[in-house]
Amino acid sequence: MAFFTTLTSRTFSHSAMMSNSIKNVTVIGSGLMGAGIAQVAAQTGHSVIMVDIDDALVSKAQKRIQDSIQRVAKKKFGENEEASKFISESLSHLTTSTDAVTSVGSADLVVEAIVENLDIKKKLFMQLDKAAPSHTIFASNTSSLSIAKIADATDRKDRFGGLHFFNPVPVMKLLEVVRIPETSEATFSKMTQFGKTMGKVIVQCKDTPGFIANHLIVPYLLAAIRLVERGDGTMEDVDTAMKLGAGYPMGPFEVLDHIGVDLFKSISEDWSTRFPEEQAYRVPSTLVKKVEEGKLGRKTGEGFYKYN
Ligand code: CAA
Ligand code: NAD
Repeated sequence: MAFFTTLTSRTFSHSAMMSNSIKNVTVIGSGLMGAGIAQVAAQTGHSVIMVDIDDALVSKAQKRIQDSIQRVAKKKFGENEEASKFISESLSHLTTSTDAVTSVGSADLVVEAIVENLDIKKKLFMQLDKAAPSHTIFASNTSSLSIAKIADATDRKDRFGGLHFFNPVPVMKLLEVVRIPETSEATFSKMTQFGKTMGKVIVQCKDTPGFIANHLIVPYLLAAIRLVERGDGTMEDVDTAMKLGAGYPMGPFEVLDHIGVDLFKSISEDWSTRFPEEQAYRVPSTLVKKVEEGKLGRKTGEGFYKYN
């Protein structure tokens, strides 16, 4: 099956599912989140360009999308012709690029899902602001950074917001749509409509630390690490307790390996710098050690647990 093409020109195939004004979507960053966002946007009929910094990273993302979309198709249609049609139609909406600046030339929406670092995100948006058409809406998928601070790098704060997806994007139903004071009603409404077209359930958020979900998840995960650091329980027992006692689908250490230990360390570092009085946000030494050892979670084969 012919899967992906490299970007030459963006084509748009009209789909019955398209009911909002966002048709052309550029996703910058093709890691855990960017690949998932690009996949679901393509599945729902948007014309998508997925961007990363080199061909090897783009190829890795294409492989992840192929595996994921097959799972989605199997769940939706079983193993029949409809499943193959769904896969090939979805992927026909998806092209790739290694040039962020040229990839935004006809974008209605840019979703940024690059490394969780304020300066790097600002540098990217500053470049994109010059290259994108004036109507293009910019959104960050940041887990923990201030959307307003990222938007400061641009002259389009009225067309800037947050689209915070959850991992794995093809499976998780929630989308947090985040506004800053300058976000216009039209922008907020288009972002919300885009999320609904993606099949997500929307919650509206202000630009507060961690928005809604991560504001609660981050201290919980940090508390789980500290509990084990104190020797009050093993990580296996903590995971079991939260799955069987609280009904969570994954225990906190499984979640940490799932989202990336390095990402979580960045979140904790940023919040402990921004809120030095808040003891709950301090960076646990276990996180520092894991990252130094390259044990970043499932993506490196080992984090808190080992994976095949
Ligand atoms: N695409 C990609 N991955 C998929 C997938 C798809 N279409 N379908 C399933 N998965 C993944 C799962 O992660 C898991 O991986 P492995 O097979 O490699 O072990 C596996 O596929 C499980 O498959 P199942 O079909 O058995 O999945 P399930 O229906 O039992 O549910 C799950 C899997 C939805 C991930 C569930 O375990 C869950 O809800 N876990 C909690 C996830 C969570 O907490 N996410 C939020 C993290 S916080 C966040 O995202 C915000 C942030 O800013 C950090
Ligand atoms: P990741 O490390 O898996 O992927 C980031 C990708 O961005 C990498 O492939 C990297 O090469 C690429 N990249 C970096 N700079 C770039 C640039 N200038 N241009 C193009 N590509 C560039 O990271 P991730 O886990 O997917 O996280 C991405 C963003 O999504 C972060 O802001 C994170 O906070 C957020 N987020 C992550 C999760 C999660 O569970 N991992 C959940 C929700 C939100």
